[in-house]
This record gives sequence, C-alpha cells and structure tokens, in this order.
Amino acid sequence: MYNEKLRSQKRLIVSADGTDTLFSEEFAEPYHSTKDGALHESLEKHVKPALSIKKEFSSLTILDICFGLGYNTFSTLYYIKKHNLKVKIHILSPEFDRELIESLKDFNYPKEFEIIKDIIYEVSRNFYYKDEQFEIEILLGDARVKVPMIKEKIDIIYQDAFSPKKNPLLWTREFFGDIALISKKDVLLTTYSIASATRLGLYENGFYIFLYYGDKTRCSTVASLKKISNLEYIDMELKKVRNPTAKSLRDINFIKNN
Ligand SMILES: C[S@@+](CC[C@H](N)C(=O)[O-])C[C@H]1O[C@@H](n2cnc3c(N)ncnc32)[C@H](O)[C@@H]1O
Repeated sequence: MYNEKLRSQKRLIVSADGTDTLFSEEFAEPYHSTKDGALHESLEKHVKPALSIKKEFSSLTILDICFGLGYNTFSTLYYIKKHNLKVKIHILSPEFDRELIESLKDFNYPKEFEIIKDIIYEVSRNFYYKDEQFEIEILLGDARVKVPMIKEKIDIIYQDAFSPKKNPLLWTREFFGDIALISKKDVLLTTYSIASATRLGLYENGFYIFLYYGDKTRCSTVASLKKISNLEYIDMELKKVRNPTAKSLRDINFIKNN
C-alpha cells in the first residue's frame, strides 16, 4: 500500500494561483489541485467553509488530515490573523513523512504566510507550536493509528489526504468511523472529494452530506453529524437509488494487500 522507498522523491510544481506545491512519486499525485492552486484550494475548500460556518465559536479544535506542506493549517492561521478573529485554535495533524515536516522551514510559501513565518519555522523544527491563540501539534505516524488515540473532541476536520484511489485507507468507512468517534455532534468535515464512495462512507457513519461551492474552484463536500441550514443538502438515499452499485471503501479490500 505504502512505498517508503519512494517517500523522499518529490518534485516542485507551481500551481495555477502561482503558489508552490509538490508532486509525490510515492502516491503519483500532487499535494494540491494544480488547477485550483495550493493556497486558493486550501482557503476555498477548507478554511473559508469551516470558519464561516463556525464563526460564532470562541475556540475550535481542528483535525487536519494530513499535514503535508501544512497549507490547510497555515491558511487557517493566515485567515484568522487577516480578519482579526479572536477564536482560539488547536490543530492536531497526523503525518508519517517526518523528513517533509523537517524540510518545511525552507519551503517557498506564498507571501501571505510571511506573517506566520516564525510559526512555520517552529512547527518544522519541533513538530509543535503554542502561543495564547494557536496550538499546533503534528502527530508523527500513521493517521490510522494516531486518530483513534486522540482524546480531544473535534469541531472541524480537514479531510485532505491523497485521493481515494491512491490513499484508500484514509477514505474507508472504518476510518470515517474512527473520525466520527472523536467528533463533536456539530462537527464539520471539509473535503475536495465529491466521490460517491467518500460520501457513502461518511453517510454510513451518520454524517449528513452537503455540496459546497467555493469561489473559482470546482465544488467540494461538507459533511456534519448535524444538519446544516444554508448549504445544499445531498439526499444520499436518493443517490443510492440512482446509483445502486456505488459502495463505500472498506478496509478489508486494502489491508489484505499491505
Ligand atoms: C495531499 S497531502 C496533504 C496536503 C496538506 N493537507 C497541505 O495542505 O499541504 C497528503 C499527506 O498525507 C500523508 N499521508 C498519507 N498517508 C498517510 C498515513 N496513513 N498517515 C499519515 N500521513 C499520511 C502524506 O505523507 C502527505 O503528506
């Protein structure tokens, strides 16, 4: 399933919004949508939907799956600082590529991240950062092991693993079950994946599914254990009738090949 020998092999790509991302040889995929742009995708598919729906909260615990180049975590901090929001943020983020995190202090991030460059440096050095408003914890290791160990109850999940085809164990019904167990009842999950298998895996764990339209991006998925007004609701029972062969991904289909 994973190929550690290829893990260090990555090449730089400049994405459509002019921000840098990487291409992973291990997963044969870029870390971000090159068409949407790394920063733009992070803001439009994760940060803006999550923080606008949760704008009344004074503190939020976020599960960022997985850390990668940290765009989702760093865009969250950038957005909060830019809009002078007072919310306290605790981010937990699994990542099994230690070398990648260690290299981030030298990564060419967009100018928007200039105001958080000291935070980026510290995360890259210590896998941890804390001040009065922000706490960032990288959970080094396999997300399938780390997520069930989380004790905090989660308000927001950025589900941003490589695609279900390339990284299936982070999109299975069982993994979404682990996520549901550590989630608050009004948790909000954001993901770029609009695949039926992804939506079914979430739905089978009690999530309601919604369509989200970011600015100048393809649509994405928002899910919650509670119904959300003002978002386009997707009737999964109707989807099942219309697409009776669609199935959620299951661990058993992938773990045996490990
Ligand atoms: C698409 S990238 C994440 C991009 C990131 N959210 C960002 O904004 O830069 C996926 C990341 O998941 C990590 N990953 C894949 N499978 C994993 C697993 N089972 N446990 C921990 N990390 C994993 C990869 O090393 C990679 O860094």
